[in-house]
Amino acid sequence: MIKSRIIGTGSYAPQRILSNHDLEKIVDTSDEWIATRTGIKERRIADGETTTDIAVKACKKALKSASIPPDEIDLIIAATVTSDMIFPSTACFLQSHLGIKKNIPAFDVSAACSGFLYAIDVADKYIKTNAAKNVLVVGVDVFSKIIDWHDRNTCILFGDGAGAVLLSAEKGNRGILSSHIFSNGHYWNMLYTPSNICSSPFKSSSHSHKCEEPYLKMEGNKIFKLAVQTMGEACQEALDHNNITADELAFLIPHQANARIINATAERMGLPQEKVFINLDRYGNTSAGSIPIALDELAQSGRLNKGDLLLMVAFGGGLTWGATLVKW
Ligand code: UT7
Repeated sequence: MIKSRIIGTGSYAPQRILSNHDLEKIVDTSDEWIATRTGIKERRIADGETTTDIAVKACKKALKSASIPPDEIDLIIAATVTSDMIFPSTACFLQSHLGIKKNIPAFDVSAACSGFLYAIDVADKYIKTNAAKNVLVVGVDVFSKIIDWHDRNTCILFGDGAGAVLLSAEKGNRGILSSHIFSNGHYWNMLYTPSNICSSPFKSSSHSHKCEEPYLKMEGNKIFKLAVQTMGEACQEALDHNNITADELAFLIPHQANARIINATAERMGLPQEKVFINLDRYGNTSAGSIPIALDELAQSGRLNKGDLLLMVAFGGGLTWGATLVKW
């Protein structure tokens, strides 16, 4: 049976650090409030770097760690909701910036903070159907450009960054064991960013729409509860599907949105703190970058052993959510 194995990881976050104390000078907040309510201490902010620039750096590191030259990539999937342009896709920009000469498919996946797990799901299906051998998957977002920096409810939460993996077809029992992705579009207006493209002259008065400011809008409390509920359910579905229990997991790699959401999810699963990977204190919520950055840091830390079971779980705008079980 062919499996998609993660043979390389890489990540990159912009150098500019924005601490909670820096935010105290921008909005009415405090380091104490942010740290207690979210667990975040600082985040990285793109200063002149584009979404593509950030993604390229993560991808180059993933390719290096996989020892795969760019021309052996069969497919590029970029998970992002903050592309540099409406089109072309970030994946097409990556194909160009990585110097790939082959005419391979390259496309973006839009599932906000769940984007990386959605992209993994698609990549895994390409690999299992023999449509691709090596797939580059990157999760990247630059939320600093869609944040209302006057809104203390949201501007304290997010940061910029990217993480990438190289998935390769391999026989054996290591790799992605199962992937479970979900959405509920009825809840779209709990977390969204409107487009500000309103230039068409062909707007009849009956269909005229208000052009909202292109900033992220969120109902934090509602999102919080749904995140705990749906991430818990997705984790349980992944465990049940593979006939394993939570204590067999080496690590849970949750979407890094809020330490309280992560702790509640882990508690629900009966997982001890040391099995839950957290780096949001240094990055905040990097949306699609969140899980692959965490995965890369965990892999680089040397704490992963061959055969370890890792459960990745995400939640985001759409609403979307999902869980992926990996045998390392
Ligand atoms: O990837 C998914 C993306 N979204 C999320 O993960 C968001 C999930 N939600 C959350 O993380 C939390 O709901 C927040 C961190 C956004 C908010 O935490 P909370 O404990 O739910 O606080 P709250 O919204 O209930 O606000 C409590 C108080 C309010 O004041 P009053 O009405 O009690 O006087 C807020 O105005 O805290 C106030 N507040 C702040 N105070 C200082 C809200 N934001 C801030 C702030 N600094 N930055």
